[in-house]
Amino acid sequence: MENKNVILGIETSCDETSVSVVVDGHAVLSNVISSQMEIHQAFGGVVPEVASRRHVERITLIIEQALLEANVTKNQLTAIAVTQGPGLVGALLVGVAAAKALAYALRIPLIPVHHIAGHIYANHLVSPLQFPLIALIVSGGHTELIYMKDHMNFERLGRTRDDAVGEAFDKVARLMNLPYPGGPHIDRLAAQGSPAYSLPRAWLEKGSLDFSFSGLKSAVMQFMKQNERYVEKDLAASFQTAVLDVLVEKTFRAITQKEVSNLVVAGGVAANSGLRSRLHNRAKQEKITLTIPSLELCTDNAAMIASAAYFLYQEGNPVDLELNAVPNLPLI
Ligand code: KG4
Ligand code: ZN
Repeated sequence: MENKNVILGIETSCDETSVSVVVDGHAVLSNVISSQMEIHQAFGGVVPEVASRRHVERITLIIEQALLEANVTKNQLTAIAVTQGPGLVGALLVGVAAAKALAYALRIPLIPVHHIAGHIYANHLVSPLQFPLIALIVSGGHTELIYMKDHMNFERLGRTRDDAVGEAFDKVARLMNLPYPGGPHIDRLAAQGSPAYSLPRAWLEKGSLDFSFSGLKSAVMQFMKQNERYVEKDLAASFQTAVLDVLVEKTFRAITQKEVSNLVVAGGVAANSGLRSRLHNRAKQEKITLTIPSLELCTDNAAMIASAAYFLYQEGNPVDLELNAVPNLPLI
């Protein structure tokens, strides 16, 4: 481990308590993820207070487990990385407090990481990021198109103006009485159906790379009111196709606009089989190098945080122990 940067990352921004040990920003020695999904399922969504309490209960144990699995002692660590935001404030605070305590006890640097930067760097764990690139982040909390010309250099090209794409999947699934989180259920049904029903696509003003999904959700609600009998799988396919048409088209418009040949994707919705296959086909057609991490690295995890932290660490800018969680932390 000598001359290596061994970073322990902590991620607690939402409903996953995760701790990971990553060497030099790419070699994952451990990535322990403790999901609270089953706890929140009963409520049909993440309950912030419940999430924070569960993080408190789990964090120490998960830190120990991550070190054990990595076969690394605390004294071998170079730095501690933590998600500073955006996320649920009470949940973020648990990770930030744990990270500060470790950094202070070990007298090593503390590196705050932006959650979306983390999602992008999940791709660096698959293969080294090649610049310039476009990153499409699609999760329950975010829908963003980011341009990067170098490490840690972000330009936002587009974002959702209302619901995040995963949130739209979950809300429509709820209308259709599917269990939470609904994304995977819509995906499964859509694969069996055909996009027979006509639903709107929100392209917004000419040239805009922003997204809007709340109108589509309302259109589905309207459709269900007006049509008591409909084919569930066809409605799922119609909704999913309407989402993907806009997502995929705007992603490739961003690629053309910025003249890049690398596309990276992350966030829970990157698990969507329709999205994956459409991105793969279009990337092949347009000779774009596409990276989509494995499901475990697409959803919230601490390895992506430790990877991004490696590049922040190279830049210096140490922070002190005054570090606080910032629930609406801007990327740029
Ligand atoms: O990144 P993630 O695990 O959590 C955050 O929001 O940060 O993303 C979760 C979101 C949920 O909205 C879930 O419904 C959606 O990802 N999702 C999917 C699929 N798998 C998960 N959406 C569509 N198709 C899927 N296969
Ligand atoms: Zn996330």
